[in-house]
Amino acid sequence: MLILGIETSCDETAAAVVENGRSVRSSIVASQDEIHGPYGGVVPELACRRHLEVIDGVVYTALEKAGISKSDLDLIAVVNGPGLIGALLIGLSFAKSIAYGLGIPLIGVHHIEAHLYGALMSHEDVPMPAIGLVVSGGHTVLFQMRSIGEYTCLGSTVDDAVGEAFDKVASLLGLPYLGGPLVEKLARKGDRHAIEFPRAMLKKKGFDFSYSGLKTAVLYRIKGYGKRRTDKDKISENEKADIAAGFQEAAFEVLVKKAIKAARKLDANSIVVGGGVSRNLRLREMFDEEAADKGIRVYFPDPELCTDNAAMVAGLAYHKFERSPAGAGLSLTADPNLEFIA
Ligand code: KG4
Ligand code: ZN
Repeated sequence: MLILGIETSCDETAAAVVENGRSVRSSIVASQDEIHGPYGGVVPELACRRHLEVIDGVVYTALEKAGISKSDLDLIAVVNGPGLIGALLIGLSFAKSIAYGLGIPLIGVHHIEAHLYGALMSHEDVPMPAIGLVVSGGHTVLFQMRSIGEYTCLGSTVDDAVGEAFDKVASLLGLPYLGGPLVEKLARKGDRHAIEFPRAMLKKKGFDFSYSGLKTAVLYRIKGYGKRRTDKDKISENEKADIAAGFQEAAFEVLVKKAIKAARKLDANSIVVGGGVSRNLRLREMFDEEAADKGIRVYFPDPELCTDNAAMVAGLAYHKFERSPAGAGLSLTADPNLEFIA
């Protein structure tokens, strides 16, 4: 079954063709970082305009790279939430028009569920039940996953998402926009034990997370308490690297320990991680170190399936369609706060 996936929930215009839920025939992602960079965050109006400008080129390039024409498609899949409403509507309207024109079904996919599916796409036969962890710029959520489509939310961030904290810390360290990956790079040069940042919610019961306190601790470390540090006692490059390393360690220790605690409590032998931050190699290393002696295996997506893409959307749609073909139709609507936990 050939599925075209479309993703426009935030600031990436993406399209992909995936065969039978797993085999990626093409995956195109048009990023908008250069547009939003000068504003230090996504400007919804600008995101929508760019989606409109590039969406047909992105979709047709995906078809071309897959070596197929529109008429070979069996199903169209589109992210219909959560996300920016204007941005979601552009992808949805485009998807509807192709589905209508070709007379084939259209299915809506939840953005976070698609991130969870990323790791299942990269690894065959992940044992269930599993613990699912999505760590992205917009979400930090822990799930119990009984099968594809059956989840219970265990906890989520009470304030900032972990990716958002990475991007804010990057900006405090003077790194360019969407600096999450640059914090990882800088951290490699630092001493991860030099600065002990707080591990928020680690000792608390339950599975929620909090990242705004950690971000503030980094702010005080850089600017001095009460922002007393002046230009002349500017922070050294070595100290910046230690801050990046210490921040990363604190941010990840909570994720890793809580996910493993959830796995032990709920008798799961596997943890599935997804979302942009799951690209981080230190996170992967910390999970492997902590899980190895506990008989738990941790599954990550291939790098290109971590950050926003449409291959995970088309892949997940295969399973959703198999389960409920009746649910696919042109009445689909976009919902900026779409829920998927039953
Ligand atoms: O999943 P994603 O592409 O978009 C959302 O759904 O939010 O995640 C983007 C987030 C950004 O905050 C970005 O800085 C972060 O993932 N990110 C990373 C790394 N690569 C991307 N954070 C830490 N280390 C990385 N290597
Ligand atoms: Zn995402």
